[in-house]
This record gives sequence, structure tokens and C-alpha cells, in this order.
Amino acid sequence: NKVVLAYSGGLDTSVILKWLQTEYECEVVTFTADLGQGEELEPARAKAELLGIKDIYIEDLREEFVRDFVFPMFRANAVYEGLYLLGTSIARPLISKRLVEIAAETGADAIAHGATGKGNDQVRFELAAYALNPDIKVIAPWREWDLTSRTKLIEYAEAHQVPVPKDKRGESPFSVDANLLHTSSEGKVLENPAEPAPDYVYSRTVDPVDAPDAPEVIEIGFKKGDAISINGEEMSPATLLAALNEYGRKHGVGRLDLVENRFVGMKSRGIYETPGGTILLAAHRGIEQITLDRGAAHLKDELMPKYAELIYNGFWFSPERDMLQAAIDASQTHVEGSVTVQLYKGSANVIGRSSPKSLYSEAHVTFEEDAGAYDQKDAAGFIKLNALRLKLLGKRGG
Ligand code: ARG
Ligand code: SIN
Repeated sequence: NKVVLAYSGGLDTSVILKWLQTEYECEVVTFTADLGQGEELEPARAKAELLGIKDIYIEDLREEFVRDFVFPMFRANAVYEGLYLLGTSIARPLISKRLVEIAAETGADAIAHGATGKGNDQVRFELAAYALNPDIKVIAPWREWDLTSRTKLIEYAEAHQVPVPKDKRGESPFSVDANLLHTSSEGKVLENPAEPAPDYVYSRTVDPVDAPDAPEVIEIGFKKGDAISINGEEMSPATLLAALNEYGRKHGVGRLDLVENRFVGMKSRGIYETPGGTILLAAHRGIEQITLDRGAAHLKDELMPKYAELIYNGFWFSPERDMLQAAIDASQTHVEGSVTVQLYKGSANVIGRSSPKSLYSEAHVTFEEDAGAYDQKDAAGFIKLNALRLKLLGKRGG
């Protein structure tokens, strides 16, 4: 039998690889994806080869990730529990999709991942995998083995000729997950939510305090709800997000310290950096302000928490997410134009927006003479009827 392993090349997944070979006595196929985590992938290939792997899959999925997962999610302005931009949550279904596809290509009947039994990621990997292939088997070594401490893990590695990098001997100070959209850090030194996170946790944004004293203004172009250009230059989805990340990094945009509710029931504290995503969210809301009708906009905002929760909980591949996505996408037909965003010491503020599809009518809203566009007398009846039930209630009293 054969298993496809989501392999980072790091110590943990290398031990998993060896453990699958020894305990399950199965042939392991490795899959390593470039989702923009900013790490070289070739070392993962070398390490897999060293561990005797014949089928090694290494793929650049950055464009697919942003085009088919990040951008559709941003059309919804999705935010979990008011603050989290779902950077890890949205990457998991894509990894699972490829794991299942590679299993089919290589004749494997199982997939394996390195998520623990305590977190959200196991749920996301597995719900996505089962949705795409109901017969797939999933192996989650962290839920099965007894390598419950760093020391045991390293002992196992040494006993089985898994190379242990010098800097991995000690306990790492926290756990990191990174991709083009965000970097998350959890655990260890971050576990006490009363204690501020040490400075060294932040890896892809400057401290807003040290950001440039002069604000910087950029212009983001949109079409059908997706960002397509920066300062007039058209870019592919992944290139555009990478460019926004650079602006965000420089101005310290997108830091978040959050205690969130995991799907499995516990609360956890995370430090997030989502530089480009934070700018994109502000800009997308900016273009929606002038191009979306109020009814559509408010309904969208009501659906959003449900949509975000589905993604957080691992239901990307589900009929209810498809339904919400169809509604959200339908709302985006006229969401096009251009948004001016000012970046300054940790903030990304919309300071201008324009669109050929704008619903904004200066003729109606103006404080000056409106040339008959709007008859102020109409408002009297409007208020009278809306007040009717309030008056009846007031008359009843109590
Ligand atoms: N708490 C975040 C989430 O559930 C981040 C998870 C980070 N995952 C990791 N393997 N370090 O989406
Ligand atoms: C893990 O437990 O593997 C990471 C954290 C999470 O999935 O929530």
C-alpha cells in the first residue's frame, strides 16, 4: 500500500515519513507545495530522496491558491470572529485537493498530514479529502504515535537515520504556518494570552512604530470583485498579493494578536501577520461602497460570518459554501473601478474610490441645490409611516 504525505521537509514531517515507512510498512509519496511560504523547496526534495522516496511531487501552487481560494474568499470580505483573515484556513483545502489528486495518480489509497489532534488543521485537511474522495484513508500520526515530546521525536529521528538540523535540537519557541496570505504563530511562548508577544515573533512586517513617517498612497484596480492592478499596472493574482505584501511589510500593516475559538472547542491564542490581505480587504470594501446596492451589501454582510465560519471549520468543499459563494459572486458583477489607499504606520485607509459602475449620485446627496433630483417633502411621509408603530407602542406605554 501507498500513502501520499503532505511533506514540508522539516523535522516533524520527516519523522512522520520514516514512521509511515516503518510502522505502516507502506511506500510513501511526498507532496510539497509552494504556497508562497518563502522557503526553498529543493531541500525538501533532497531530504525526501535521502529518505528513499521515489515519487516526489513539488509544485508551485501560488497562482491557483490566490486565484481560486484567496480571491473568492475576499469577495466575501470574510473575517472570522471579527478579526482573523483566515490565512491558514483557506490554504488547507487546496493542499488536500492535491493530496487526493496525487493519490489517484499514483495509485495510493491513503493520505497523511502533520497536523495534531488538538487543532483545526486536521479537521480541514480531512473534511476536504473526504469530500473529494469518500474512500480515501487518512493517517494522522500525531493522533496515533507516542512521540509526545520533543525529546522522543528527536530520539526517534536519530534511531532511524532522519537528519536532525542543529537548530531543531532545542524546543522551537512557537509553531509557525506561512503562505502568500499570512504567517501565523501559536504555542509555547505565546500560550499565556495575558503576556504580550515578544518582538521576534513578527517576521513579515516592521513594527508600526518603526514604519516610515511619511504616508504612502497606492491605487488598486478591481474587476468583478477581484484586484487586478496596482498603480495602473495589471498583475496576476499571486504577483499582486505579493506586491501588496511588500507595501504592507514596509508600513507595518496587518498585525493581529487574537484569542480565537477553535472548532474542536478550545480557545487558542495566535499572532497573525496578513500585510497584503489587510490592504486588500480595506480596498475591496472601498470599491463595494460605491458599486454595491445597499440591499446586496447588507445581505452580503449578514452572510459573511457564516461563510467565514465554514472556511474556518473546514467546510470549503461543501454544498453550503458553494451556495454562499454563488450568492457572493453574483453580487460582484459591477464591483470594478479603482481605490486609493493610504498606508501609514500600521494602518491601511481608503481615501478615494471611483468606478464607471458607481451608484453614488452627487446630484442626490449634495447639500447644495439639487435641481429636483430629490424632493425633501417625500421624506415627511417616509418618516411618518416608519414612526407609526413606534407611536402606537409609545401610546401603550410600559
Ligand atoms: N489558528 C489558525 C487557524 O486555525 C492558525 C493555525 C496554524 N496552523 C499551524 N499548523 N501552525 O487557522
Ligand atoms: C495543529 O494543531 O496542528 C496546528 C493548530 C491548528 O490546527 O489549529
